[in-house]
Amino acid sequence: MNLTILTLFPEPVEAYFASSIMAKAVARGLVTYRCVNIRDFAVDVHRTCDDAPYGGGAGMVLKPGPLAAALDSVGGDRIRTIYPTPSGRPFRAPLVHELAAEKELILVCGRYEGIDQRIIDRYVDDEISIGDYVLSSGELAALVIIDAVYRRINGVITAESLDEESFEDGLLEYPHYTRPETFASVGVPEVLLSGHHEQIRAWRMEQRIAKTRQMRPDLYQAWLAQRDDKE
Ligand code: ADE
Repeated sequence: MNLTILTLFPEPVEAYFASSIMAKAVARGLVTYRCVNIRDFAVDVHRTCDDAPYGGGAGMVLKPGPLAAALDSVGGDRIRTIYPTPSGRPFRAPLVHELAAEKELILVCGRYEGIDQRIIDRYVDDEISIGDYVLSSGELAALVIIDAVYRRINGVITAESLDEESFEDGLLEYPHYTRPETFASVGVPEVLLSGHHEQIRAWRMEQRIAKTRQMRPDLYQAWLAQRDDKE
């Protein structure tokens, strides 16, 4: 997958691509990326990228000129372009899967109050919100989207870890334990030491159901409904 990130602050984006599992995916050629600094496309002497909103109000808006020039330079009119914004549609597992099937994506990182609407109308295919709160950094939201998407590319992590994780079948994950067997006087659930695979599977399923019911009654109700439908 080929990722292009348009930003005024390339440093945190570059740092992310240079660490951990993402760095390995890049080294193995599973992901390629480039960071484009929007400021490089500002034409005035001060390289201004933001301005006050028409109609008044708080904050600053990213100017359309530099952003349009930056998007034109990377094929923004033909490549699926994502703008992370609290006003977008919610970022959930089905959208993650959809984006993971793309060969190329562009992400536009906003700052301040947002970007000029004419850029959204002309270039943006998906406005996506990562949650019902407002971040000051569009880079963080873009990286959340990238992180959720690239790990689903074939070969980045094992298929087994992907299948068993939260949200893939409507339930949250079961609790995990590792050595030592007793930690701070607390042991590991007996069944996990039994070597009895069928019992372990059943225990984990019970745990997932209980956890989902407690933490996410909305997901629990949806899971119950689809289970009843299947039956
Ligand atoms: N930018 C700022 N807040 C955001 C959010 N909640 N989702 C996506 N992008 C954002």
